[in-house]
Amino acid sequence: MSVQDEIKRFTAPDIRARKGGEPIVCLTSYHAHTAGIVDRYCDIILVGDSLGMVMHGLETTLPVTLDMMILQGLAVMRGSKRALVTIDMPFGSYESSKEQAFASAARVLKETGCGAIKLEGGRRMAETIRFLAERGVPVMAHVGLTPQSINTIGSFRAQGRDEADWGPIEDDAQAVSDAGAFSVVIEAVAEPLARRISAAISIPTIGIGASPACDGQVLVLEDMLGLSPRVPKFVKRYAELGPGIEAAVKGFAEEVRSRAFPGPEHTYGMRKTPG
Ligand code: KIV
Repeated sequence: MSVQDEIKRFTAPDIRARKGGEPIVCLTSYHAHTAGIVDRYCDIILVGDSLGMVMHGLETTLPVTLDMMILQGLAVMRGSKRALVTIDMPFGSYESSKEQAFASAARVLKETGCGAIKLEGGRRMAETIRFLAERGVPVMAHVGLTPQSINTIGSFRAQGRDEADWGPIEDDAQAVSDAGAFSVVIEAVAEPLARRISAAISIPTIGIGASPACDGQVLVLEDMLGLSPRVPKFVKRYAELGPGIEAAVKGFAEEVRSRAFPGPEHTYGMRKTPG
């Protein structure tokens, strides 16, 4: 297969061009195998810093480091070939200056080969987003509930629940759009607000707990597979994989303990699995 024949990945401009068109499908993935499955159906794979909570059992995303994001981002790049892989910038890697943000984003792009980064914040990050976008870094912004701000917002509650509180969230979305972000995640806001923002700004809105009124949707893969112990109320569980995993682990343990574990003819060589 020549370089030209290789399947082309979606790019940030491809996603930007989908505003108002076919809905954008996005799921998180943190490892090669699930990335391969997600890649077959999604336009964007988000290597979210939610990996701190989902994979590492942390209480918040704050302890996640740039090295953790790069390691899992590399795995997702290896496992996928079509979707735009977007990697979250973790807390502390981009907020102190636009230069710090560029240095961190450049590491992510150079060391993983991914196509875009995501960072949290609206108006306060607009100058940084412009700086990055002008220097070749495609930025997905993230407004509404921003989990990295948990210590200042106090809880993972829906944002803008009263109409009186909508203004700052609308201003945040407008600011990141004007600054050159190619898309924006809107987390945990009410449908009328998501609808107003989606109509007002020129880049695609990707909702999480923000109603179908967005240009696309993102979910945390483990949440929708029933593998996370606690999930936000809005999450539809498309599968309940926990009991299946438990049954398999129990079956293995029982076979080993009862000396019924299969002999070597079942354990050597490789065979294809449905995954
Ligand atoms: O870290 C993450 O997975 C995210 C999504 C929830 C949007 O930011």
